[in-house]
Amino acid sequence: MSTSKPSSPDQSSNPNQSWGGRFNEPVDDFVARFTASVSFDQRLYIQDIQGSVAHAAMLARVGVISEDDSLRIITGLESIKTDIANNQFDWSEALEDVHMNIESALTKDIGIVGKKLHTGRSRNDQVATDIRLWLRDQIDVIAERITTLQTVMIKLAISQSDTIMPGFTHLQTAQPVTFGHHLLAWNEMLERDYGRLIDCRARMNQSPLGAAALAGTSYPIDRVFTATALGFDKPTENSLDSVSDRDFAIEFCAFASLLLTHMSRMSEELILWTSAQFQFVELPDRFCTGSSIMPQKKNPDVPELVRGKTGRVNGNLFSLLTLMKSQPLAYNKDNQEDKEPLFDTVDTVSDCLRAFVDMIPAIKANKPAMYDAAKRGFSTATDLADYLVGKGVAFRDAHEIVGNSVAYGIKVDKDLSEMSIDELRSFSNHITEDVFLILTLEGSVSARNHIGGTAPIQVQAAGARALKKINLR
Ligand code: ARG
Repeated sequence: MSTSKPSSPDQSSNPNQSWGGRFNEPVDDFVARFTASVSFDQRLYIQDIQGSVAHAAMLARVGVISEDDSLRIITGLESIKTDIANNQFDWSEALEDVHMNIESALTKDIGIVGKKLHTGRSRNDQVATDIRLWLRDQIDVIAERITTLQTVMIKLAISQSDTIMPGFTHLQTAQPVTFGHHLLAWNEMLERDYGRLIDCRARMNQSPLGAAALAGTSYPIDRVFTATALGFDKPTENSLDSVSDRDFAIEFCAFASLLLTHMSRMSEELILWTSAQFQFVELPDRFCTGSSIMPQKKNPDVPELVRGKTGRVNGNLFSLLTLMKSQPLAYNKDNQEDKEPLFDTVDTVSDCLRAFVDMIPAIKANKPAMYDAAKRGFSTATDLADYLVGKGVAFRDAHEIVGNSVAYGIKVDKDLSEMSIDELRSFSNHITEDVFLILTLEGSVSARNHIGGTAPIQVQAAGARALKKINLR
């Protein structure tokens, strides 16, 4: 779409016509530039025209304008939409914003009847309607992308259901888990993010159109008609709130902050795992860059940037919260500042999701490296303690016995599973040959065989459930 630079205001001959009536001098050049929003809000042109078409149709329906005038307005608006899409529209900064640019072009194109469009409406309810329509469209695209990302993630998880890796707490090796289980943990984060996004959409899907400047209008408008025409569930309940509410934008940005927080955590793990110290996974070259000085380097730029972009998304959330915190009812010009943070959040979230959708299924697991790492950190120590409990030892005593055997293992550089039965029995004569079944990594993960556990069979089942749930969306 067009992002052409608006022409400069021509203050000598043409102050803004749509509100110039009570003014004795043209607006100052700098002030015109300072207050204009057209350089960024032209992005709303499709929704602005969509809202105007519904409004014009409604005005004719209730008899405020004639059917003929309504038709000419609607045809004129559709042709302006085509002009803008084809980059054949001359945006003017003197006309402040997307709304007045389009209305002025309409009057130029179809004559005086164009001036009837703004009957019973204000830019205050107009802009509130436009942003909701725009954000709703974007939410649908983003929801779809989250679903795609979850799908590729779950499929990878199922294919890695028996790949053993160390599970960490405090970033210290804790207990063995499966890579598939780890990936399904990521999926749970995305599942909640998806739910928050859908909640946000449901709450925001009400039409502010008809609130007019702040108090409603004296024309016999039909708000249910415009709400339905625009795909809203219903009209909003209070005109003052309608023109001043930006909760929906804040709520979306809060969703975005949490989503990016999750994607940043995933990125952090990918960055660690691709390092020479871990070598758990490999990312395809197309997601990485090299170093201009160190020939051996392959840097995980895409996850690093996703981690970095979380900062700007969090910043946008705080911009909007701060923008709203002291505003009295109803509309204030402050609200014009809502657009850039919201646009930037939508763009950033869409790009990050796009990158992940490509990158996640291309992750290559280095199974031997993961397995060795799981073996190195005495990750089956808890299993040995549980085994002793099974033989009648109290858990605290079992904890102590295993602690002693780990200390011994560190000294002689042996994992618990590598010790002889005599070595193990020197710590407790409750230990017998069957201990080796549970000291292996495979035995350890398979033992966690319940809903939410890391056993490969459970990961398979959880993956299948997750896919089924997504298919119901
Ligand atoms: N450009 C304005 C905005 O984004 C449109 C509404 C202006 N209304 C007004 N009364 N100045 O909020």
